[in-house]
Amino acid sequence: MKPGDTLTVMAETLSKHGDGVARVDGMELHVAGLLPGETGDVEIDYVSRQRPRAHASVVTRRNTHPGRRTAPCPHHSRCSGCALMDMDLASQRELKRRDLERTWGLLVDRLVSDPSGLGYRHSSKRVFSGSPGEVILGSFMRGTHSVADMRGCLVDHPDIAACADEVADVASDLLVVPYDEADGEGDLRYAWFKTDGHGNTVVALITADPRLTRVHDLAARLERPAGVAWGVNSARGNDMRGIGLRPLRGRQTLQLGFGEVFTHVGPLGFLQPNPHVAAAAYHDLVRVPAGGAVHGRVAFDLYAGAGVTTQLLRRQFHEVIPCESFPESARTLGIEPQLVEEFLARMLASGQRPPDLVVANPPRGGLGPTVCTQLNDVRASRLHLMSCSPTSLVEDLRRLTGEHGRYKVIGARGFDTLPQTNHVEVVVWLVGQS
Ligand SMILES: C[S@@+](CC[C@H](N)C(=O)[O-])C[C@H]1O[C@@H](n2cnc3c(N)ncnc32)[C@H](O)[C@@H]1O
Repeated sequence: MKPGDTLTVMAETLSKHGDGVARVDGMELHVAGLLPGETGDVEIDYVSRQRPRAHASVVTRRNTHPGRRTAPCPHHSRCSGCALMDMDLASQRELKRRDLERTWGLLVDRLVSDPSGLGYRHSSKRVFSGSPGEVILGSFMRGTHSVADMRGCLVDHPDIAACADEVADVASDLLVVPYDEADGEGDLRYAWFKTDGHGNTVVALITADPRLTRVHDLAARLERPAGVAWGVNSARGNDMRGIGLRPLRGRQTLQLGFGEVFTHVGPLGFLQPNPHVAAAAYHDLVRVPAGGAVHGRVAFDLYAGAGVTTQLLRRQFHEVIPCESFPESARTLGIEPQLVEEFLARMLASGQRPPDLVVANPPRGGLGPTVCTQLNDVRASRLHLMSCSPTSLVEDLRRLTGEHGRYKVIGARGFDTLPQTNHVEVVVWLVGQS
């Protein structure tokens, strides 16, 4: 197979970027413009030297997926944020459910979803780009440092979309220089928005240089956000860990409702982007698959974030011990920031009785080998996991239920927290076994 070759293939699945994936002679062929079940005459664009993978584009599509639609967002061809926008919502959900089962071996009893699939993001990070006088706020285009404009983004909450437009307009007016990731020059880098969905939005503006910045002028002119904070990231790349924020104006926290409980979150604290669907996941996380609440003496809430599950668990357990490493979130929880690895090591060394329930909602990388080994040693009666990455979840489940594992899976459920994207959240219920 070489660039320029043409062949006829059928896509079986969809890649995380929204390309149809076909298999040809042991090779994965990623085809832009094909959905699963669609056959097309395609032309090879690029063949990887490292992996058995090639990329192609469609010359002629021979059949059409029943859920194919014209993407409702005008930025769709440039912005790679919503890989599934060419399919209707029902087809997106079916694809996610099938992918969990076929690709990851995760059988979910159902996929809980949001009816509209638009305007749901209560947390959104945008990248500054463009030029002085024509500043845009958008997202990196796939595999590049070029930024696709996201003005009028359909999945961001309308309050965030309006604040982002104002930030771009005022920054243009002030002739602020957007940072250029390629040469490391410029001022404004990122804007991170959070909204409570009731008209209050806070924004963290991240600049490249602590001294040569127009961020104060920009903050003073903004009328839409209820609060503005400022942080500095002078390093290349977009790693936001460890960035401290200074309040510039207005309020610095929002109160958000997740079903029956409320929590407070600052501009950089972890917030499930879709509180409506996340509330359903949190609700299920403290129950058994059939819906009954778990009661007991002691529960651990690992990777507790702003503490929604901690609050829910406190209704059911005598003692709930949260663990969280991000200082702002730990402060909200009233605890010292601590790594789960340290927390579990201390718990194991103390010889305490095993907890009745451990809830764990780790970041994308999953629990990892150390925490899985510690959880096997902890021997909790129940372990309820919430994961945003099937890749790491499957690895963790292998460690927790395999040869050296102390748990067995009794159920799993999917949550379509980010419609239009290929993201899916999964709750897995495990019980301890001797
Ligand atoms: C996916 S979020 C879940 C937060 C919370 N359960 C929620 O849904 O709002 C993961 C959280 O784990 C925290 N975290 C990441 N690594 C950690 C570690 N090794 N120890 C403790 N907390 C960690 C992050 O700061 C973040 O708040």
